Amino acid sequence: MSMSIEECQVPRQSKPVPDTPNNVLEQFNMKDRVVCITGAAEGIGLAVAEAMAEAGANIALWYNSNKAAVDRAEELSKLHNVKAKAYQVEVSSPEKVQQAVRDVVSDFGRLDCLVANAGMAISKPILEQTVEEYKRQFEVNVDGVFYCAKYAGEVFKAQGRGNLIITSSISAHIVNVPVDQPVYNASKAAVTHLGKSLAREWRDFARVNIVSPGFFDTKMGASERVVNEGLRMTPLGRQGHVKELKGLFLYLASDASSYQTGSDVVIDGGYILP
Ligand SMILES: NC(=O)c1ccc[n+]([C@@H]2O[C@H](COP(=O)([O-])OP(=O)(O)OC[C@H]3O[C@@H](n4cnc5c(N)ncnc54)[C@H](OP(=O)(O)O)[C@@H]3O)[C@@H](O)[C@H]2O)c1
Repeated sequence: MSMSIEECQVPRQSKPVPDTPNNVLEQFNMKDRVVCITGAAEGIGLAVAEAMAEAGANIALWYNSNKAAVDRAEELSKLHNVKAKAYQVEVSSPEKVQQAVRDVVSDFGRLDCLVANAGMAISKPILEQTVEEYKRQFEVNVDGVFYCAKYAGEVFKAQGRGNLIITSSISAHIVNVPVDQPVYNASKAAVTHLGKSLAREWRDFARVNIVSPGFFDTKMGASERVVNEGLRMTPLGRQGHVKELKGLFLYLASDASSYQTGSDVVIDGGYILP
């Protein structure tokens, strides 16, 4: 930013508009693109993988413990005539993430988009949370996203193009209720701001955006003890279905969002409105 009127008179060269299709449906076409999704065996990550494959992208599905990713990759490959492969990757290990990014680039020839979606929660008040539980949530939710961003970012820079999408949460925006879970909330706030900061840092070669879901009906959705309050707080009166996230992730991964970077898109049935 300019610090004085004189400084802001310095002429600036506008960057060119990217050579993307004018037709909006063509803007969403992901044919020949390569998208890597973490936490892709089920839940939100699997819905994102489906969305990308349905739009024609080749997909790398990363999983940790859920080997169903291997079958899902095979199914999606056959169904949509795309290349799809599953990789076992513990995202809290920098070595494993670095190697897996290398493997994807070696197998697919490039990496257009990485969706850093893997996450976990041990939802407890801080006075009941052990130091180990605190560390584990940060290892997966923050360190894991950092490693994915760092090693995918190296590829994006070398390619001169790339796209990072981070699955954060409304818990990065609000102190969620009724369960006190300060550590999870803080871990998500950290990756939201990491993503915004990277959008600026990578301005010459990659876009970075954040998705902040409200309650979606997955393993990490509203538990039995939370669901009543979740429904009461949500103007649309229900948890989201993961199919309702597909359009947003596809939009952010595709040329349809070519002018969008650093955004944090809340998709929550109106939960954080009050
Ligand atoms: N559902 C919601 O209401 C909601 C709301 C806001 C934000 N989110 C966020 O959305 C993301 C996806 O969650 P989800 O709702 O789809 O629940 P989910 O089905 O339980 O997905 C979580 C994923 O994270 C992966 N993961 C966990 N620890 C990992 C590790 N150490 N290394 C690699 N992968 C690991 C899991 O992989 P494996 O199963 O293979 O171990 C799993 O696929 C999370 O980041 C979550 O915080 C969810």
